[in-house]
Amino acid sequence: MFQLKFLIIFLFFTFGLAACVETQSKRSEFNIAESKSYEASSFRQNCAICHGQEANGKEIDGKLIPSLRYGNAATKSEDEIYQQIKEGKLPMPAFKNQLSEKEIRQMVRFIQHDLQGKQETEK
Ligand code: HEC
Repeated sequence: MFQLKFLIIFLFFTFGLAACVETQSKRSEFNIAESKSYEASSFRQNCAICHGQEANGKEIDGKLIPSLRYGNAATKSEDEIYQQIKEGKLPMPAFKNQLSEKEIRQMVRFIQHDLQGKQETEK
């Protein structure tokens, strides 16, 4: 009888812990749609039509627009992302006339820090 009780407590504990870890990992995913930050709103205005509401990439006319969270984008350096936004790279338009130097820098930080979860020092 003692052993059964112990087993039940043990099971509750393990499942409870697993549930906690799971909700935590979901919570740490940055939600662009719900964010009130300036960068998130700039992303919604300028980038979401192509890269998707949550920057997970999107298919337009059979062409795949890459995710900005995972894959190739996550391997790019700060300067490469900066150049990509400023000068564009066909079919992506250049944003140097729409966004200021400071706004582009903020966007790069937003992508690397908030979306890709990189630490400030990892560049
Ligand atoms: C008209 C559609 C369009 C818009 C708007 C757009 N992009 Fe892109 N973006 C693309 C395409 C297509 C690519 C892939 C280009 C290539 O093949 O190299 C890309 C690539 C990128 C990459 C490189 C990712 C990689 O995997 O190499 C970054 C970073 C990026 N975009 C950021 C942005 C940001 C930030 C904005 C908003 C300021 C934005 N894009 C707006 C279409 C767009």
